[in-house]
Amino acid sequence: MAATDLERFSNEEKRNLSLGGHVGFDSLPDQLVSKSVAQGFSFNILCVGETGIGKSTLMNTLFNTTFETEEASHYEPAVRLRPRTYDLQESNVHLKLTIVDAVGFGDQINKDESYRPIVDYIDTQFENYLQEELKIRRSLFNYHDTRIHVCLYFITPTGHSLKSLDLVAMKKLDSKVNIIPIIAKADTISKSELHKFKIKIMSELVSNGVQIYQFPTDDEAVAEINSVMNAHLPFAVVGSIEEVKVGNKMVRARQYPWGVVQVENESHCDFVKLREMLIRVNMEDLREQTHTRHYELYRRCKLEEMGFKDTDPDSQPFSLQETYETKRKEFLCELQRKEEEMRQMFVNKVKETESELKEKERELHEKFEHLKRIHQEEKRKVEEKRRELEEEMNAFNRRKVAVETLQSQSLQATSQQPLKKDKDKKNFFSLPSSCSITSGRYVN
Ligand code: GTP
Ligand code: MG
Repeated sequence: MAATDLERFSNEEKRNLSLGGHVGFDSLPDQLVSKSVAQGFSFNILCVGETGIGKSTLMNTLFNTTFETEEASHYEPAVRLRPRTYDLQESNVHLKLTIVDAVGFGDQINKDESYRPIVDYIDTQFENYLQEELKIRRSLFNYHDTRIHVCLYFITPTGHSLKSLDLVAMKKLDSKVNIIPIIAKADTISKSELHKFKIKIMSELVSNGVQIYQFPTDDEAVAEINSVMNAHLPFAVVGSIEEVKVGNKMVRARQYPWGVVQVENESHCDFVKLREMLIRVNMEDLREQTHTRHYELYRRCKLEEMGFKDTDPDSQPFSLQETYETKRKEFLCELQRKEEEMRQMFVNKVKETESELKEKERELHEKFEHLKRIHQEEKRKVEEKRRELEEEMNAFNRRKVAVETLQSQSLQATSQQPLKKDKDKKNFFSLPSSCSITSGRYVN
């Protein structure tokens, strides 16, 4: 088909046609249901609330079973997320339920960063899903989706107002997860106080811009009940797995000396409302909101961070291929720039080392010249000394020869004239006054 035909065809109004008889595609919803049932469902609940507030008891009460419970200590150095996954079955529906406890929440002296491990945990689950989605060989069909579908935020029943820790944590979490605030241990607060407490909590959440999960009112089938329930938030709940006999029935309740608090009695607490809204009416909406709102936001930010965008600066559609090409070019340019920078750095380094070496060579040369001069000077001095000594030696030798000659002459004279002894004696004593006698010899 030519491009223009294709455009015309897609721009055409769709026509309604009536069928001549039963075709069978009206079974599509049933096909979808049976496929989903066969595949099973997953639902992940995050429980945030101070230690001992009743998180585990409420989970046990909600799912009417006993999950593994481990009492948390009050001495955790930081908040720690502890996920536990269970396989549950009701009729032929399989539910993979993960309950994540924020262990040690609110127990540290410095609570500034208490929300961070929770935010990080939620982001990690989104990141894992995104990585699976971006794989070439994806297996989302049997992927264990660990993204948090709902955060049950347990508020301490003080009757006063929200703690700043609660406001900060909920504010940090509201763009990442569906928050349902609940007042825990509601049996410890009187009816009139509870009413005021609920109003106060809601007004504080609104004035601090905290977005809590609103039960959807766009589906006609549940719009009415959901809008009524939205007005009851935050739910004030009581948890217990203890069975107490009330009338002729065994009910789950908390028994006190003054009476019995029935968990499933709507005039005692909002437990039934919570179970109805969380499990029986809006579980699928919570899963959907997680995917279409919170995960979508995470995915968009992450892809934008990575440089992907849907439109170019002129608001024209920008395909993934184009983004990839642009990114590739940018990357290559960056690589070239870095390479050039490194090359330049290397050249500079070589030059620097070369000049340093030259400087060292020059210094060595100067040192050598200096030593050479000193050596020559010393050599000249030694030479001079040697000459002087030689001259002295020569003079000495000359004197020695002269003395020896004189000596031999005098000896000869003495031996040839023995008879003239007296006369010589006389002569001897009349030697010129410049001559003197030294050790039997005479010198002048
Ligand atoms: P950690 O996991 O250790 O942080 O505690 P938790 O928040 O899971 O509390 P848990 O369910 O273990 O309950 C702690 C204590 O509170 C237990 O003694 C429960 O019986 C009691 N408790 C639980 N729910 C309620 C409630 O609704 N009302 C009252 N009065 N006590 C409750
Ligand atoms: Mg617990």
